[in-house]
Amino acid sequence: MAITREQVLEALKVVNDPELHKSIVELDMVKDIQIDGGHVTVTVNLTVPGCPLKHRFQQDVEAALGKVPGVERVTVQFGAMTDEERAAVAAKVRGGEPHGEARKSTMALASKTTIIGVASGKGGVGKSTTTVNLAVALKKLGYSVGIIDADIYGFSIPRMMGNMSRPQALDDQMLLPVWAHDIPFISAGSLVNEDQAIIWRGPMLGKMIEQFLLNVQWGKLDYLLIDLPPGTGDVALSVAQMLPNTDLVLVTTPQAAAAQVASRVGSMAAKTNQRILGVIENMAYFLCDQCEKKHFIFGKGGGQALAANLGCEVIAEIPLTADVRLGSDVGDPIVADKEDHPAAQAYLQAARKLAELSPPKVWTDELKVL
Ligand SMILES: Nc1ncnc2c1ncn2[C@@H]1O[C@H](COP(=O)(O)OP(=O)(O)O)[C@@H](O)[C@H]1O
Ligand SMILES: [Mg+2]
Repeated sequence: MAITREQVLEALKVVNDPELHKSIVELDMVKDIQIDGGHVTVTVNLTVPGCPLKHRFQQDVEAALGKVPGVERVTVQFGAMTDEERAAVAAKVRGGEPHGEARKSTMALASKTTIIGVASGKGGVGKSTTTVNLAVALKKLGYSVGIIDADIYGFSIPRMMGNMSRPQALDDQMLLPVWAHDIPFISAGSLVNEDQAIIWRGPMLGKMIEQFLLNVQWGKLDYLLIDLPPGTGDVALSVAQMLPNTDLVLVTTPQAAAAQVASRVGSMAAKTNQRILGVIENMAYFLCDQCEKKHFIFGKGGGQALAANLGCEVIAEIPLTADVRLGSDVGDPIVADKEDHPAAQAYLQAARKLAELSPPKVWTDELKVL
């Protein structure tokens, strides 16, 4: 019996846009269907040309159509939406609800995501480096991960992830995240030029973080890592207040002084009801190219002292090595590139520990599809 267009559309209903979390049929993304005997050609219109998720669409469409009796071959082609079509998609994602309601639905999505803030007592201790490497490590362990760069003034995630492009807007409310290493992220740095000074004041900063959380279409994430602003100043506090009941990882260097400063973050976390999962001691020792020895150039014990003070564990000690810095500079976090490196192994260990201490929540509707 000949394959019909209806059969094809019916089969494609199970293919979801991974970011928008709705079926491509419902979102009107299936632009064209050609049936030639057992050969079906489908054109999918992407929200963004050169969409980083193309390969996922391709696989999902092939898998869905492979189940239709009589289908022998599937060809997937891609087109790009016009601005009007994108606006129509945004309206559908919103479900015809006014803007305020869309926020709620995005929030509901976020409630399934485990949010882990990466905090530090001061800048320059390696908080952002830790964030990107933990994200890549969690991804390697099989979890879906996103990153919010909440260090608005000192953003560095786009460079460290190696993608400086701007996020695409679906409409005036909805942003699609930027992708690198199969990880979606958003940063103030994605919205301005790198050398441009950001002079927004407090309320604007809060607004921006809120938009990062609520207006970016994150899709289904197991973990959302937040690179927090350093210290316990206004910005750090307002972000902490926006994310009550989330988990924190504290990054410190081994110096006693750094650990002391970091312990103030602990007091702030207690006030905002944030749980400290553990301490990551960064630059714990220097690994040179010449010998196997660990050089404790910043002293020893800061991480342990801080963890004891906060009643948690040191979940990893990351060595100071040129390879970590180089990876950050060129947008290739060391975990992505050199998995066997001692530093990468330390990040992977930290990620395993985090997944154990704060396991991902189950996506029930995902199970239904299976
Ligand atoms: N373990 C490490 N080994 C070598 N360089 C590091 C390490 N951790 C961080 N760095 C480097 O130190 C600098 C500051 O790190 P960064 O992650 O930007 O700190 P923060 O976000 O806390 O300000 C960066 O140049 C980074 O590449
Ligand atoms: Mg930083």
